[in-house]
Amino acid sequence: MDQEFWDRLYNESERRWSGRPNGALRVEVEDMTPGKALDLGCGEGGDAIWLASKGWKVTAVDISPVALARAAEAAGPDSGIDWQQADPRVSPPPSRSFDLVSAQYFPVLHEEDHATIRGLLDAVAPGGTLLVVSHLIEGTPPEGWSGPDPREFYQPPEIAELLGDDWVIESHGNRARVDTPHDNPHHADIVLRARRVR
Ligand SMILES: C[S@@+](CC[C@H](N)C(=O)[O-])C[C@H]1O[C@@H](n2cnc3c(N)ncnc32)[C@H](O)[C@@H]1O
Repeated sequence: MDQEFWDRLYNESERRWSGRPNGALRVEVEDMTPGKALDLGCGEGGDAIWLASKGWKVTAVDISPVALARAAEAAGPDSGIDWQQADPRVSPPPSRSFDLVSAQYFPVLHEEDHATIRGLLDAVAPGGTLLVVSHLIEGTPPEGWSGPDPREFYQPPEIAELLGDDWVIESHGNRARVDTPHDNPHHADIVLRARRVR
């Protein structure tokens, strides 16, 4: 699942995702005071654009230039969003810099040293929030799923285990997906929201 994989996926259609912000993001972030946000794996920009409309100063990162070009076009020139092509496995985001780090369906393959996940946790500023939303995986992938096996990727419970004493878990559990796109086989999320206290 490198840049080529994602570019190819995006190039299969004019638009891959709905363009709307993810439901779990809206639910969790709606009432937060805006600050600096990092949207990891921003795709076609639905979440980043919504965050910017709520007053967040957004850095939106994706490995795919195809996705980023669509996102920037959808946002328009005045969004203030900083679109960045980057791979946090290779270049971790800046340390303790964001009031919100959001990873919505962002795939990170398991690593022995958890270096990528630790880099993402480190990007959250003291007082800031980590929000990770993944598809709830129960047993084998759902019928119709043709992508890689999701069990090879970090799920929120594994990330929760990596949070040390500097963190408070504010929300963690399975829930029905809000506003599932009609053609998507995933109908349940697993959500982790945690705040860095120091
Ligand atoms: C399943 S999509 C989710 C997109 C968006 N967050 C959403 O919910 O619509 C995963 C996104 O992460 C990006 N991505 C995957 N691996 C990445 C990596 N190592 N570094 C940066 N972006 C990556 C992909 O290009 C893709 O846009």
